[in-house]
Amino acid sequence: MDLLTFLVLTLSCLLLFSLWRQSSGRGKLPPGPTPLPIIGNILQIDVKNISQCLTNFSKVYGPVFTLYFGMKPTVVLHGYEAVKEALIDHGEEFSGRGSFPLAENINKGLGIIFSHGNRWKEIRRFSLTTLRNLGMGKRTIEDRVQEEAQCLVEELRRTNGAPCDPTFILGCAPCNVICSIIFQNRFDYKDQDFLNFLEKTNENVKILSSPWLQFCNAFPILLDYCPGSHNTVAKNLDHIKSYLLEKIKEHQESLDVTNPRDFIDYYLIKSKQENHNQHSIFTADNLATTVTDLFGAGTETTSTTLRYALLLLLKHPHVTAKVQEEIVFVIGQQRRPCMQDRSHMPYTDAMIHEVQRFIDLIPTNLPHAVTCDIKFRNYLIPKGTTVMTSLSSVLHDSKEFPNPETFDPGHFLDGNGNFKKSDYFMPFSAGKRMCAGEGLARMELFLFLTTVLQNFKLKPLVHPMDIDTTPVVNGFASVPPPYQLCFIPV
Ligand code: HEM
Ligand SMILES: *[C@@H]1O[C@H](CO)[C@@H](O)[C@H](O)[C@H]1NC(C)=O
Ligand SMILES: *[C@@H]1O[C@H](CO)[C@@H](O)[C@H](O)[C@H]1NC(C)=O
Repeated sequence: MDLLTFLVLTLSCLLLFSLWRQSSGRGKLPPGPTPLPIIGNILQIDVKNISQCLTNFSKVYGPVFTLYFGMKPTVVLHGYEAVKEALIDHGEEFSGRGSFPLAENINKGLGIIFSHGNRWKEIRRFSLTTLRNLGMGKRTIEDRVQEEAQCLVEELRRTNGAPCDPTFILGCAPCNVICSIIFQNRFDYKDQDFLNFLEKTNENVKILSSPWLQFCNAFPILLDYCPGSHNTVAKNLDHIKSYLLEKIKEHQESLDVTNPRDFIDYYLIKSKQENHNQHSIFTADNLATTVTDLFGAGTETTSTTLRYALLLLLKHPHVTAKVQEEIVFVIGQQRRPCMQDRSHMPYTDAMIHEVQRFIDLIPTNLPHAVTCDIKFRNYLIPKGTTVMTSLSSVLHDSKEFPNPETFDPGHFLDGNGNFKKSDYFMPFSAGKRMCAGEGLARMELFLFLTTVLQNFKLKPLVHPMDIDTTPVVNGFASVPPPYQLCFIPV
């Protein structure tokens, strides 16, 4: 048999095999557009506007449908009812993480974002408990965020009211909050270790969330043929990890078991307690990966939200004026904003909720997977199937939020101007995989934004009418278009 015949035969077998797999599964999986062999539905999916694409499909196939990214089926859940039924009512079954071949190769099942099963449960529980304990400690997380908010204001003052792109400065503050929680102290914004850390974390988030990498996730074989980004991510992580291991060593030497100072101390104490357990997950390697995950998940998300918030405040000066009125009334100019103030500031609270709803930061959530075979709305979803939830479809639901494409804090206010909660507020997702940093993120958004608005008037470079707030889609995240503004001290 010559090479050509061999290739043709192999290819036809592959084709037949993929057709067979698809047809044998299709009786149970939810309906969806007919997939082509091997490439599935990818020609029908606009990667630049996945969220809109899902809305279009849901009009044809209903709120629960199947798309093939390559040969792998992905069950898509669209709209509040389906998302809630899965993530909350069937929380346990839908708590798996969809597969990320690249992240899995590098993380080796450690950490929190990409880990599975009991490993994930234990480290997640530990992380949440530790964040809670640190929140009540001698130096609370609120103290740390307030400290950072003052440094942020000082740094913004140095711009002397000149036009500036706020991206860099707004990236430093959330990163430093995590530094302060993990290593106990913040860094100067010019510290070389800090800048390295920020740069490498951001580069990895960018690569991991790029459309190209989503494509590679559908066809993992590509990863082996184009190792470029794979190597960069691995190199950056090695760099971050060796720095972390150094820090961990320093902490080990100065550890006082009765007086934990930060996340690393709590972890070291926990791993001492587990010393007798040979299968303990609390290893130094797992600490390094978990900390990397906290930086990866907690830096760009928060800083992008802050950057988008300022853009929306520039675009809607009447909203900004009302928030500043509330700040003057409740906090005044003398003291620092604190979390207690939030309950007296319904308009500001509503504005921040509306920013998160409107910008829809992670439109299709991180991919989930089902942890066992599950019957869902008369369909049978086999264990391990990837599940994509459209958070957009919940945040932009037109019954819950009339005119969902309009930025209006009124979406979270009742007729008397009181703050109005909504079950549809899901920018952090919902259920057992829900963002582990929700409390921290919301604290940062409130304290940073109120502190900035207490100290500065925001001045746009163009007329508000001409400000474009359309998101630039960037892999997982919707980011604001680049812009400049002036911070005029009040
Ligand atoms: C505005 C800021 C933030 C937004 C919008 C956000 C949103 C999200 C979303 C949508 C997920 C995926 C949830 C899921 O899979 O169902 C997630 C996961 C996660 N977030 Fe956040 N996040 C933010 C800030 C933070 C911060 C500050 C931290 C730091 C502590 C953090 C830590 C995490 C972790 C560790 C996970 C993985 C949870 C798991 O897999 O169990 N996030 N976040
Ligand atoms: C996605 O498509 C919708 C409607 O087709 C449009 O309104 C929206 O601006 C698009 N989003 C992006 C980021 O291109
Ligand atoms: C969704 O459907 C609308 C109208 O049917 C179409 O104009 C738009 O291009 C579609 N968007 C995507 C991303 O498929």
